[in-house]
Amino acid sequence: MLPLASARLIQSELQALRRDLHAHPETAFEEKRTAGVVAARLEAWGIETHRGLADTGVVGVIRGAGSGEAIGLRADMDALPIAEANEFAHRSTVAGRMHGCGHDGHTAMLLGAARVLADGRDFDGTVYLIFQPAEEGTGGARVMIEQGLFERFPMHAVFGMHNWPGLPVGEFAVHAGAVMAGTDRFRIRIEGVGGHAAMPHLGADPVLAGAALVQAVQSVVARALDPLEAAVVSITCFHAGDTFNVLPGTAELAGTLRAFSPAVREKALTRLRELCAGIGAAFGVDIAFELQPGGYPPTINVASEAAWCVQAAAAVVGEDAVHTAEHPSMGAEDFAFHLQKRPGAYIWIGNGASAALHHPRYDFNDDILALGTAYWVELARRRLAREHA
Ligand code: NI
Repeated sequence: MLPLASARLIQSELQALRRDLHAHPETAFEEKRTAGVVAARLEAWGIETHRGLADTGVVGVIRGAGSGEAIGLRADMDALPIAEANEFAHRSTVAGRMHGCGHDGHTAMLLGAARVLADGRDFDGTVYLIFQPAEEGTGGARVMIEQGLFERFPMHAVFGMHNWPGLPVGEFAVHAGAVMAGTDRFRIRIEGVGGHAAMPHLGADPVLAGAALVQAVQSVVARALDPLEAAVVSITCFHAGDTFNVLPGTAELAGTLRAFSPAVREKALTRLRELCAGIGAAFGVDIAFELQPGGYPPTINVASEAAWCVQAAAAVVGEDAVHTAEHPSMGAEDFAFHLQKRPGAYIWIGNGASAALHHPRYDFNDDILALGTAYWVELARRRLAREHA
């Protein structure tokens, strides 16, 4: 039976599972119930199941007929700290928690693939099903890797998938090279001299220096980088002062830098540090620039593996519905950590005209559950086909 036909047979089961996960969202490293649901399903289908990697991570192992290569298929499981604004029956039952990025759907699609692949085991090699915690900002991928993901489950290639609102249902997008940006988080502390707001000449105003700095950082992309290279700098916090008539002594800023190449990142960081020093000198304040932990590297698809993704998606929806033109996003994705360790590729599956990712009215589109499940099965069977191995 074709993978899409097999996936359609379990559509109602996958939808019930997806909606159950949606109603019970859990955020980074707290995915205990979710991990329990995942592990119980895998075990019920006779799949070797390993729990506890990065606390709530689960890895399923499906061995095929021969001793060919091994690949990893990865789904993220975590929800977001967002209050859901939807009112449908499967809305979140947890205050301030919501599956606002569709990881409920990602988990359900990989479970669907597990079920179909375990039924036939008609491939040559091993499929590792990686159910990963904490994709949203806290780097669950990095923790799984530190705890031995690729040593315990040796694989030749690793693949990821994310739904994409605005891309029509029945379409996929994947291309070689950079698909998501690398991110850095930074904090800027401005040390001035506070005093009476009526006598600014007796102090050194960190608010004015900060305002100048906020403006100046926009010159980094506009004037320090090659216009054909992509990068973005955003100042996202500016905290200073408490009242009307006192100039504060300090100001704290924070922000993010995103870029696709290490050279562009380095150039931008150098320029940011230079601006802090220069504006500090010009305004008579001390400005300290500090990178924070928690950045993500860029997500870079390997061409040969992306080609397998194109082939698998085309087998499900037809060649014309698979977009292969370069169209990277400035968002970031901790799948990048997996791609630093193994070759692989990351694909987008159309979620149709839904609300945007991380929007309080977002919902994963159940109409794509079978398509995503079939894609995973096609990818595994093709990548691990006997003639290929
Ligand atoms: Ni996401």
